[in-house]
Amino acid sequence: MNLLDIRNLSIELVNGDKNILAVDKVSLSMKEGEVRGLVGESGSGKSLLAQAIVGVLDDKWHVHADRFHWRGIDLLRLSIAERKALLSRDIAMIFQEPMACLDPTTTIGEQLSEAIDSKSLTGFFWQKQQQQRHSAATKLLHKVGIKNHSVCLKSYPHQLTEALCQRVMIAIALARRPILLIADEPTATMESTNQNQIFRLLSSLNQLKNMSILLISHDLENITHWTKTITVMYSGQFVEAGTTEQIFNKPLHPYTRALVDSNPSANFHLPAKSRLMTLPGSIPILQHLPIGCRLGPRCPRAQQACVKSPTVTNFHGHKVSCHFPLTPMKVSHKVTKRVS
Ligand SMILES: Nc1ncnc2c1ncn2[C@@H]1O[C@H](COP(=O)(O)OP(=O)(O)OP(=O)(O)O)[C@@H](O)[C@H]1O
Ligand code: SF4
Ligand SMILES: [Mg+2]
Repeated sequence: MNLLDIRNLSIELVNGDKNILAVDKVSLSMKEGEVRGLVGESGSGKSLLAQAIVGVLDDKWHVHADRFHWRGIDLLRLSIAERKALLSRDIAMIFQEPMACLDPTTTIGEQLSEAIDSKSLTGFFWQKQQQQRHSAATKLLHKVGIKNHSVCLKSYPHQLTEALCQRVMIAIALARRPILLIADEPTATMESTNQNQIFRLLSSLNQLKNMSILLISHDLENITHWTKTITVMYSGQFVEAGTTEQIFNKPLHPYTRALVDSNPSANFHLPAKSRLMTLPGSIPILQHLPIGCRLGPRCPRAQQACVKSPTVTNFHGHKVSCHFPLTPMKVSHKVTKRVS
């Protein structure tokens, strides 16, 4: 049974009398213990999709899906409140902009203590529970690489750097011991050695606690070492999904191929918001979306048929949405799995 099973999820931006289809029928599934990457250039709709899964989009967005199952439960049959309660118990999210997500009026210590699962506390006395919360918060800060815990716990978010706030966000998400962790660019503000430290921590939680992870990044190379499967999106549409090996070594979609070709070196990471140099043009803005396959104006293989949206073809679990997919030829890039 899939942990998460979403079919044809669409997200519309309500804009006066005209709605804009920001995410167009994207499907995504995750098994227990899976680490899946979600990649695509800046503006592909990765964060919107993640926010729709955890139900935090505001009223200007309309979300629909043909199927939305969590651990076999049909969430579309639940009320919004029931769905939120269930998902917030089981799923934690590390948001892309940590500063905006931390409460500016409360210290890190209070925010972290509040996130600690009360089931993990023993004893009835308030004071004893507070001590346990403090010690759990300290341990979590050490886990995410913050050594000076006493200063951090007393600080307000604005007193910390963005990179420290990002580590705090990770600690808050882990405090809830989620079944699924959605990590939206969790290391974007960090240097590469610190990024690896966080990825190693997430990887060990996956292996030791069987925590499933949806790892979101605009940079395919950056997450390849840490994922078992990858889903690729472009301009709100599903592009391709398969094992990390299939996506990196045998891409079937012209867009995935361009993403792979943009990262020839194992040590080179695309900065956020950078343009993809292997395809002409740039990702369309929501107000000017092409009809049919949205890659059309940039795609070297585009033909007249591409003005109609392609459907998804499944080649033994390797799924692609393209009228004229590439033949599954092996390319020269090599996936190297890092040992955690
Ligand atoms: N609050 C908003 N109001 C209007 N448009 C938005 C809003 N948030 C996102 N968008 C638009 O929706 C599209 C998808 O945005 P999203 O943030 O999901 O992309 P992303 O793939 O996460 O990009 P990045 O890699 O930069 O984080 C973009 O065109 C973006 O401009
Ligand atoms: S459907 Fe057409 S435009 Fe879209 S990726 Fe395939 S070939 Fe290119
Ligand atoms: Mg994003």
